[in-house]
Amino acid sequence: MSAERLKIEAARAALKEVEDGMILGVGTGSTVNALIRELEVSGLRLEGAVSSSRETTDRLEAIGVKVLDPNHTGDLALYVDGADEVDAHRRLIKGGGGALTREKVIAAASRRFLCIVDESKCVDILGEFPLPVEVIPMARSLVSRKLTGLGGRPELRDGVTTDNGNWILDVRNLDLVDPLKMETAINQIPGVVTVGLFAQRRADEVIVAGEGGIRRLTA
Ligand code: 5RP
Repeated sequence: MSAERLKIEAARAALKEVEDGMILGVGTGSTVNALIRELEVSGLRLEGAVSSSRETTDRLEAIGVKVLDPNHTGDLALYVDGADEVDAHRRLIKGGGGALTREKVIAAASRRFLCIVDESKCVDILGEFPLPVEVIPMARSLVSRKLTGLGGRPELRDGVTTDNGNWILDVRNLDLVDPLKMETAINQIPGVVTVGLFAQRRADEVIVAGEGGIRRLTA
């Protein structure tokens, strides 16, 4: 089965958990794009959605979903998003699509975070995928030096400015055996807006679509 097909399968499984009248938190990326396409044909009527990126906002509005300001919605019942890597404890690397900060805000504001991936995203230990770190532009050099001090090899994501007007460093070579410890350490560097490690607020459930069907990682 193609990766695209698996993303559709994961999206369909997640959509079964979406209810009419909900305000849904919606992530960013190709797996979420599959979810939005499936949402369009599902007949479900959301009260609205909270979006994690301009791209997702455009796609939601194109199918007639009202995009709401999270400052006015309070906590959400459900947030659905993809990931770049997932471990068995439902800790994630996110931010390949550059939307990590808004994704982290929505995850923190949601009672349930449902992550949808194809099986290629599952790893034993996080860190093969370069870890995205969003930084304010004037702190790029300082943050790079501090990340190097933590053992990483940061590289500026060329030509990318986030929806928040910031830059992204993609960091290779970090030891992520203890993702919570590294998340805490990186978050303390002045100038870091967000690190794409989701260990403190990990997914509550991960839907993994594979050749053998759907499996779920739960508590
Ligand atoms: C965007 C993300 C995405 O969830 C992540 O990059 C996965 O994307 P895709 O579904 O295209 O593989 O974190 O910032």
